Amino acid sequence: MGMSVTISVATEQDAEQIFRLQYLCFQSEAALYGNYRIDPLVETFDAVRQEVVSDCVFVARLGEEVVGSVRGRLTEDGAAHIGKLCVHPRLQGHGIGARLLRAAEAALAEERGAKRFRLHTGHRSEGNLRLYRRVGYETVGTSKGEDGVEMIVLEKPAETYATTA
Ligand SMILES: CC(C)(COP(=O)(O)OP(=O)(O)OC[C@H]1O[C@@H](n2cnc3c(N)ncnc32)[C@H](O)[C@@H]1OP(=O)(O)O)[C@@H](O)C(=O)NCCC(=O)NCCS
Repeated sequence: MGMSVTISVATEQDAEQIFRLQYLCFQSEAALYGNYRIDPLVETFDAVRQEVVSDCVFVARLGEEVVGSVRGRLTEDGAAHIGKLCVHPRLQGHGIGARLLRAAEAALAEERGAKRFRLHTGHRSEGNLRLYRRVGYETVGTSKGEDGVEMIVLEKPAETYATTA
């Protein structure tokens, strides 16, 4: 019987594993766009560590190994930006990505007061778009990253997490 995957808040000690996991997981996106300069691949270790300290970051763990991660941050318009969702290729397709997303949404709504969640993905990343739409996100626009990749912007309201005082 295998060990179970647990979701928890990331600590600074996880930064190195998150950095390496991100580099591994986003190779498939780089291949899809023929662009190995996409943001998750060129982000420095220091930038990742800084985000782990200041943002709302969760990891999925299998024993000591970090096998998934997601980060979220409140933006000035009250929406939380969620990004860098990734799951180790050998463990994809078991619901870990959806669990990480739920954990980030709950924390951003309950602890940081997010009114909406916003995320983006490359326009050809069908699997990502399916996952986000399945959990309630809708396309609100498009954007072009610094790396030149056309992105689809999706949002969903945070009202499902609203607490009644
Ligand atoms: C995007 C990503 C994080 C998704 O992680 P994941 O753990 O595979 O996500 P889930 O398992 O929750 O969902 C993926 C699929 O598995 C299916 N699934 C979920 N639980 C399942 C289960 N218990 N049994 C069978 N299938 C299951 C889902 O229905 C979904 O199917 P679909 O692709 O047909 O829609 C992962 O593919 C990844 O790291 N990709 C590379 C990096 C990337 O592109 N990140 C997103 C940037 S915007």
